[in-house]
Amino acid sequence: MSRRYDCVIFDLDGTVMDTSEGVVRSVQYALRGMGLPDDDMERIRRFIGPPLHQAFTEFYGMKDAEATEAVRLYRVRYAQAGVLEYTPYFGMLELIREIRAAGMRVGVATGKPEVFTRVILKDAGIEDCVDRLITPNLSDKRQDKPAMVRAILDACGEKAVMVGDRCFDIEGARANGIDSIGVLQGFGSRQELQDSGATYIVQGAQGIRHILGLTRERGRFLTFEGTDGTGKSTQIERLRAALTAQGRDVVVTREPGGTPICERIRGLLLDKSSVMDDVTEAYLYAAARAEHVRAVILPALERGQDVLCDRYIDSSVAYQGYGRQLGAQRVMDINREAAADCMPDRTYLLTLPQQEARARIAGRGERDRMESAGEAFDRRVAEGFLHIAQQEPERVRVLDARRSVEDLALCIAQDVAKLKTSGGAVR
Ligand code: TYD
Repeated sequence: MSRRYDCVIFDLDGTVMDTSEGVVRSVQYALRGMGLPDDDMERIRRFIGPPLHQAFTEFYGMKDAEATEAVRLYRVRYAQAGVLEYTPYFGMLELIREIRAAGMRVGVATGKPEVFTRVILKDAGIEDCVDRLITPNLSDKRQDKPAMVRAILDACGEKAVMVGDRCFDIEGARANGIDSIGVLQGFGSRQELQDSGATYIVQGAQGIRHILGLTRERGRFLTFEGTDGTGKSTQIERLRAALTAQGRDVVVTREPGGTPICERIRGLLLDKSSVMDDVTEAYLYAAARAEHVRAVILPALERGQDVLCDRYIDSSVAYQGYGRQLGAQRVMDINREAAADCMPDRTYLLTLPQQEARARIAGRGERDRMESAGEAFDRRVAEGFLHIAQQEPERVRVLDARRSVEDLALCIAQDVAKLKTSGGAVR
């Protein structure tokens, strides 16, 4: 397959990693050394991105010799500690390895001196993935991105794309007639990237992957729903074991829950001493979902893992929409933004006659706040779930929870096997 690009040139700071902590602390050190105050954070943060000498000159009105001394001081602190004060952006190191594994070349054009850049690349475990590293000469006062990009093109060929977070990167690409990808996760704004003429603007690693044609298969998002006591956990565990045995990477999680903050919200919601309005309750479930989707579900799906989730948005529609009678549409509206448009590929709805469900949970000790809402509430919830299933027969499979555990597990595993892993279901 012929690729649109066979070389990807990365800027480092603000693109692959956030090195701001080391930069900020070292600028402060240099300012103190020059007898200047070190607490004007707004001004100091502007040092992230542009060449250092230029920044000292422009932001602090230094003369050439002063700026040179400030850069020297900066480098003393930076070499000692600042160099390793960095945080890689989500998925970027992985992406660089993938690019290399896909047979493309990787270039790095950074304003950081070579010694520091090598320390960082080694520490981040991507040193071996970089075919061509171009750094400024230590005596250079201005960094010349266009010339750096040119040097990489000379070594790696012209079918290249530049990835960066600031106008300097985009301009470096344009000066050489190549495409550029502006990333928003760094320090430049959308406006800056647009104005400098970025060919594409994306959030981060996943967007770059799309442009490079490296999209991985997404994992499958499978949810389990039903009233309390229908045996969801048992079936989730069975499916987890079956998928793992097939070599799939599986994440099991639950709602409300799945992260420390979501577990705290869960505590509030299920605590019998909590008194709250039904609307508050709906928003709390949605708040927990917003965090859970962003912190757990979407990252896992993007890594290609299958996600098995005990309850999801259908529980909100059934419990708050039907049970609390807020209305299905209203609850969906509350959840649209919370769920980041992430809907399950398949939902297994386990059903039981109400008496049987009640009998099953009777032996579980004290009931929580939701389990104490009464029989009429439970009936409305069960009807709500069936209504959802009728409206979305493609997504929701209704299963009679009175069937044996084995029988249900087999039925679910067979259905999952037919589900493509190609994604596209995260809408
Ligand atoms: P949980 O102990 O997980 O119930 P179960 O073991 O039956 O799955 O408790 C979650 C409770 O929260 C459960 O009663 C259903 C309720 N719930 C909602 O009301 N709305 C929601 O959006 C979710 C996810 C759960």
